[in-house]
Amino acid sequence: MDGLTGLFPDGAAVEDGELTVGGVSTSALAEEFGTPLVVYEEQTVLAAARAYRDAAPDALVLYGVKAFPNVALLELLAAEGLGADVSTLGELAFARAAGVPGELIVVHGNNKSDEELHEAAKACARFVVLDALDEIERAASAGVKNVLVRVTPGIEADTHEAIRTAHHGSKFGLPPDDALAAVARAREAGIEPAGLHLHIGSQLLDTRAALETIDWLGPFAARARAELGWHPAVVDLGGGLGIRYVEHDRPPAIAEFVGTLLTRLAETWPGDPPEVILEPGRSLVGRAGVTLYRVGVVKQASGTRTFVAIDGGMSDNPRPQLYGARYSALLANRPGEEPAGSYSICGKHCESGDVLIEDVQLPEPRRGDLLAVPATGAYTLAMGSNYNAVPRPAAVLVRDGEARLIRRRETVDDLVRLEATS
Ligand code: LLP
Repeated sequence: MDGLTGLFPDGAAVEDGELTVGGVSTSALAEEFGTPLVVYEEQTVLAAARAYRDAAPDALVLYGVKAFPNVALLELLAAEGLGADVSTLGELAFARAAGVPGELIVVHGNNKSDEELHEAAKACARFVVLDALDEIERAASAGVKNVLVRVTPGIEADTHEAIRTAHHGSKFGLPPDDALAAVARAREAGIEPAGLHLHIGSQLLDTRAALETIDWLGPFAARARAELGWHPAVVDLGGGLGIRYVEHDRPPAIAEFVGTLLTRLAETWPGDPPEVILEPGRSLVGRAGVTLYRVGVVKQASGTRTFVAIDGGMSDNPRPQLYGARYSALLANRPGEEPAGSYSICGKHCESGDVLIEDVQLPEPRRGDLLAVPATGAYTLAMGSNYNAVPRPAAVLVRDGEARLIRRRETVDDLVRLEATS
């Protein structure tokens, strides 16, 4: 797995001729919990959380729950002092179920319902992030007291267009003039905004757009002071740091990314440095997760293409279809064998687009082999579906040779139970 080191969790290794994660053999995991199975390695999650804490000791670090809403992971992160960034009632419920205190919860959403605003107020959330002008009075009457204003600076992050969020014309946040109007209106409604929120995009593989944002922010804060006498005391910089999916991805390390941004913020911010909030999702849990699939049909479809069909696909990971995402893979039960050729990994769903990996070098795959796909801890199960009435996979957390179920596998009965029958 030489070339793949850095894609798998820290505690992945080859022992006795098979892939192990956190000291547990992948064949034992597949045997006990079935496949597809998302295996999270605890140490990798903890190391990422600690890297954020060390790089930004004075900042509030919140887990972007949308990357994978999971109570056990939230508990793990909360024990490291991290809070939660939530954007729906459901994500808020997950954070509460994990015991994350309100003062460590920030509530987002571009279309918050009255119920969401009420629940945010009831949970005494640290901040509700105002995302639209019409939200101001609704938030005030729901009892929300602490808010940030989300501003979209008009910056195009270098990432897939579906996951850019701070460009002109974004559905998120408020353009600069409206953001200032929101501050004035919130004050009229009796809420003094504590500061600003920005999130420029996700899967960022360099610091350019983030630095551009910070360079934009200082003059904007100065403008807010000049026009409204308002000084943002808090700056929530969102999430965005990318991870390595394939060998040639080279994202900055957490320490480098965060350190670069905080240094620039200190250099460019007018006046006393603001309190900083960070909301990483993918970079906390993405690399910690490995998905195990069982190989079924191996089919030579043409002179140049052989499909290896797995027992999952776009229902447990729709990222290739949504973002053209690329992945790598390893035959977990024979990781040391020489590649026999290049294979396309397809799922079991009823469309030709259900291809997880277009092209990957593997030893000759056979029915019953275990395929391990690294870097699948973020936005996979979180975006899974029941397409073709396929139940969604289970997830386990491994450490020190022990595996713990952290999300039960759905069953076909679970799906049928939701049907309203006469
Ligand atoms: N904060 C806010 C306000 C966000 O909208 C997001 C992600 C985050 C934090 C966390 O960002 P991260 O650190 O994970 O990049 N489904 C897509 C990613 C969508 C990200 C949405 N917002 C994917 O699979 O690539």
